[in-house]
Amino acid sequence: MNARDDAMAEAEAFATIIPPGFVIGAATAAFQVEGGVHDGGRELSVWDEFTHQSGRILGGANADVAADHFHRVGEDVALMADLGIDSYRFSFGWPRLQPGGSGSLNREGIAFYDRLLDELLAAGISPMATLFHWDTPVELRGSWLNRDTAGRFGDYAYQVGEVFGDRVDRWVTINEPATVMLNGYALGIHAPGTTLLFDAVPAGHHQLLGHGLAVQALRAASVRGEIGVTNVHSPVSAATSTDEDEAYAALFDIVHNRMFGDATLLGRYPTIPEEFAVALRPLVEVSPEDLAIIHQPLDFYGLNYYFPTRIAAGTGSSSSPDGEAPALSALPFHLEPWPEFARTGFGWPNAPEFLGVALAELASRYGEALPPVYITEGGVSLPDTVLLDADTGVARIADSARIDYLSAHLESALSATAPGGAASAVDLRGYYVWSLLDNFEWAAGYSQRFGLVHVNFTTLDRTPKQSFGWLRRVLEARS
Ligand code: BGC
Repeated sequence: MNARDDAMAEAEAFATIIPPGFVIGAATAAFQVEGGVHDGGRELSVWDEFTHQSGRILGGANADVAADHFHRVGEDVALMADLGIDSYRFSFGWPRLQPGGSGSLNREGIAFYDRLLDELLAAGISPMATLFHWDTPVELRGSWLNRDTAGRFGDYAYQVGEVFGDRVDRWVTINEPATVMLNGYALGIHAPGTTLLFDAVPAGHHQLLGHGLAVQALRAASVRGEIGVTNVHSPVSAATSTDEDEAYAALFDIVHNRMFGDATLLGRYPTIPEEFAVALRPLVEVSPEDLAIIHQPLDFYGLNYYFPTRIAAGTGSSSSPDGEAPALSALPFHLEPWPEFARTGFGWPNAPEFLGVALAELASRYGEALPPVYITEGGVSLPDTVLLDADTGVARIADSARIDYLSAHLESALSATAPGGAASAVDLRGYYVWSLLDNFEWAAGYSQRFGLVHVNFTTLDRTPKQSFGWLRRVLEARS
């Protein structure tokens, strides 16, 4: 057997661990792939503004063109059909569908997503649509610090539900409100770029309120699909067992994980330790009415997992997993490295076992309140390795490390949720690879490539990577 046959045999062996009916998909987000930022009546989002401010994005990059998916949607759906995925998770661009953040929807924006949905359905690919993946229209002044944005979001959700409710199988209201609050408002490395530290908490609360209003709105619009939310979970541990390290680890777990999971699934915020009650006052003083809005029955829970977090007391370096964040050094705790794990292209620990831990935490924290779970994102950024085929001279993108990453993470999730596993109470329904395409990776610009498909950001040519061939074989071979 040659190397290619070996790889295909490995894919076939791997396929046997995938349970029947388990959904395998790939994910993207509007701002990261679409480009065409001035086309079709689209207006600006906070991310358009942010990327055009100097010094914000690595290499001075912006997403004006990104992967040019807006103009290449047909080619991209053909790639998905060739890959054989069950489902595609994308996001509706808020500034494309409702350019000023209020009023009726933009017909050209509707036409774009009509085409995407129709082509997906014609190819037998089930659409999962996210309503908000960070592209807040600039007209919504104060953005998520302003409580009114939650109401605006509910209104947008109703209209989008009315137009597309017949074709979307699964709706995600908001993607990773924790990242928006922490990176966008607390640390300033994402849009809108404020460094409010704990004063950013209202931006999290208002997104949660927006989530609740959006669930109500989608139900009022009688969408036929299932409705859920996507939170990013990073299992948190204290660097040592000192009281200080333990206390700050608990604090980080609240602002990164529990605040969002507990509010959406249990209808309450976690109990705030005395010493943090002032910093987290909005969570302590929240009104029962707001919690009732946030606590909507959900058909599924979306889990994004990338890496675990280790916390120690005391100030530390200002580098965050997503970029340089000088504001971090003002905090009384810091993130510690994980020397025991290999690192991804981004420098993140490659720790598949912690995906099992994240699922086990969901089971133990939420019990009966946890609906079926989809892993709505998981994936790895790697530098390109371009190999030239000696016989044909054709370029191949070798990314066997991505194959290893995806198989190890899927295996961790499936074994944790199998009978006898630490998360056996979790009804795990699927896994979406981040990402279908190399794309605009927020503060890191184009320096981090997460795609199954390589994008040449000069020519915009797409080249399926080795991992694409592996996944295609897994999908063909599963029962
Ligand atoms: C986000 C994606 C992002 C990925 C990798 C997730 O937090 O939802 O938009 O590209 O992580 O950084």
